[in-house]
Amino acid sequence: MSARAIASKVAENMKKASWIREMFEKGLRLKAEFGEKNVQDFSLGNPNADPPPAFYQALAAVAAERVPAQHRYMPNAGFPEARAAVAKFLTESYGLEFDAAGMVLSTGAAGATNVVMHAILDPGDEVIVLAPFFPEYRFYIEQAQGQMVLADTRPNCQLDVAAIETALTDRTRALLLNTPNNPTGAVYSDVDLKALGEMLACHDNDDQPLYLICDDVYRRVVYDMDRCPVPASRYARSIVVSSYSKDFSVAGERLGYIALPKRTPLREPLIGAMTMLNRTLGFVNAPALMQRIIARCPDALCDVEFYHQNRDLLCNALREYGYELPMPGGALYAFPKTPIEDDVAFVDVLMKHKVLAVPGRGFGRAGHMRVSYCVDRETIERGLPGFKAAIEEAR
Ligand SMILES: Cc1ncc(COP(=O)(O)O)c(C=O)c1O
Repeated sequence: MSARAIASKVAENMKKASWIREMFEKGLRLKAEFGEKNVQDFSLGNPNADPPPAFYQALAAVAAERVPAQHRYMPNAGFPEARAAVAKFLTESYGLEFDAAGMVLSTGAAGATNVVMHAILDPGDEVIVLAPFFPEYRFYIEQAQGQMVLADTRPNCQLDVAAIETALTDRTRALLLNTPNNPTGAVYSDVDLKALGEMLACHDNDDQPLYLICDDVYRRVVYDMDRCPVPASRYARSIVVSSYSKDFSVAGERLGYIALPKRTPLREPLIGAMTMLNRTLGFVNAPALMQRIIARCPDALCDVEFYHQNRDLLCNALREYGYELPMPGGALYAFPKTPIEDDVAFVDVLMKHKVLAVPGRGFGRAGHMRVSYCVDRETIERGLPGFKAAIEEAR
């Protein structure tokens, strides 16, 4: 690649982003050689459950309307009625009070997180991220001139509050937390979240605010519980980022939000900054059609039972074959230990059996791999013999 064609920082980041892309490209080559059906791809996190019927009904209803103004720019934070509808839904489901004034609708949680980072970070400020982590976080932070600081979770991928406290410095502005988690499927317990909130509160003040950014995109994709414990309920200076990508299973439609509970200290300047940044970062506003859809059905949910059955089928079989993994409590991923220490070498063994997964080192924890189960049931059924053969071969 010519050193001059693109910024050196971007060229460097493109190399860091390489694991998922590399698997994607290897997958394309395998599929071209052996045929799409003969390669079982567990490398991507593209939600594939059926969207809720309410989504299609609302889509048909808004498409039938003829109101030109509703296709124009609107206030940068979003249509007031859409913000009010999401705020009402969050108030009911979080047990915390939200209102339209504390909401900014965004282009997905990805857009939301970028906006938040730009709103709170000065150059060199630090954001703690828990490993294993969603690789895009590094870019969201660095694009806002911040620095990502990693703190490990426990071997079972649960919170280690002491490790987080050790990672705090004078420059720490935020902890970015994701539960249920990508890539591990871990759901953090309320007991741990409470301890975390108490610890953070000891280091927080209005002159040097310490934010908890709660990436709640998988919040409603949980299996063995009625609802996911709410990190934002355990710490006052919390910022929720989320989206309808997983709830509705419509990730391509790019509707997300930033939500600040009413009790958030210094909420007004934060919302002002985020509303402006939503515009100046180039998002301008969230897609208007989707805003009108969620205003009609903010609480709808895709077929989570489909993922539940996929999880059970995949994870029970992996355990039976001898893979070590904590049962994922939510999200769309399992994160087993690889039977040999070298996760890249093991993923290559899997590939010989025409199964694709992503080495754990791409997420900051080597010796593991991420297996996505937002795939067709047949992909799991056809992929299981490959997982079995690969562990037998590795032993
Ligand atoms: C942990 C996590 N956060 C954020 C996102 C971004 O989601 P969105 O489609 O809402 O931008 C993803 C997407 O996979 C994710 O896994």
